[in-house]
Amino acid sequence: MKKSSRLIALLLTLFVVATSAILDDLPLDDDDDLELYYYRRSCPKLEKIIHDKVSAWMKNDYSIGPALMRLHFHDCSVRGCDGSILLDYPGSERMANASKTLRGFELIDEIKAAVEKVCPKTVSCSDILTAAARDATLNAGGPFWSVPYGRKDGRVSIAKEADQYVPMGHEKITDLVEFYQSKGLSIVDMVVLSGAHTIGRSTCGSIQYRLFNYEGTGKPDPSISPKYLNYLRRKCRWASEYVDLDAETPKKFDVQYFKNLQNKMGLLKSDQLLYLDSRTKPLVGALASQSSLFRHQFAASMVKLGNIQDYLSADDGEIRVKCSKVNPSK
Ligand code: HEM
Repeated sequence: MKKSSRLIALLLTLFVVATSAILDDLPLDDDDDLELYYYRRSCPKLEKIIHDKVSAWMKNDYSIGPALMRLHFHDCSVRGCDGSILLDYPGSERMANASKTLRGFELIDEIKAAVEKVCPKTVSCSDILTAAARDATLNAGGPFWSVPYGRKDGRVSIAKEADQYVPMGHEKITDLVEFYQSKGLSIVDMVVLSGAHTIGRSTCGSIQYRLFNYEGTGKPDPSISPKYLNYLRRKCRWASEYVDLDAETPKKFDVQYFKNLQNKMGLLKSDQLLYLDSRTKPLVGALASQSSLFRHQFAASMVKLGNIQDYLSADDGEIRVKCSKVNPSK
């Protein structure tokens, strides 16, 4: 490891230790409104219901796990984590181009129905989605973290906002840094959370532009290794095909994603750029070589992601009865 990478690795380790110490020291609040034991009395079975449903669905179809993690990310990217991605009507976020390949809605609806039976009108859809994303991570072999609860469901969901704000993989690092910072997340959070791409898949449509005539050069993107390019060209004949985000260990929650970036095997352009930009490259190096660092920090950064709230919203929110619909006005 180079001297600068070693220094960054040390700083990152210190940062992680400090963050986890803070998390450990806060048995209740990690945020002004959210609390770890929010549903302890009002819905004690909540976490078991979510855990059991996510496990059962993933046993049947592993790919629903990564889909849930992505769904949570998209939810939190627009108007905070308020379940706005789950609303289903013409013009809602779910109808956006950016949402086209999102999945997992039926599972969230099924969990919600089970929760409503035992604790009616008590648990928000945004809390359910947040916990389901945690359980999906855990089930895929990732780390555990405690989820702070108490989110309210939003009543506003606009497709245009999803298309405007949710990053789709061709952004520049500066734009991504700004996006994360606007949500109160750091560059470390950004690089670590991108590590979610250690599992799951992408449609070929998201990357085909890299394979033949990149930026009008008549050549492929030079930041793809020749062997990987060959593989992708064979795999991605059709835009609707799927390709694994981590070609080496697609079902393992590990640091291979970061190693791939070092080997010019990042599937999305925005992934590969993390190893080409001087602000993020040392972080990739540090994470590629330290699995426990990645797991620890992933848990901490996911808590931060899940705590994004839209403080500007005039709407106090509600506890939706059905996740796909706002409650009827009284
Ligand atoms: C830097 C910001 C990010 C960008 C640009 C990005 C972009 C993408 C794209 C383009 C796909 C494939 C979509 C498709 O064509 O089907 C994808 C998939 C995925 N993303 Fe991200 N993502 C980002 C951050 C995140 C975060 C923060 C998470 C979770 C913590 C996440 C989790 C996932 C997962 C698990 C998949 C696979 C989904 C599946 O298999 O169904 N992403 N992402």
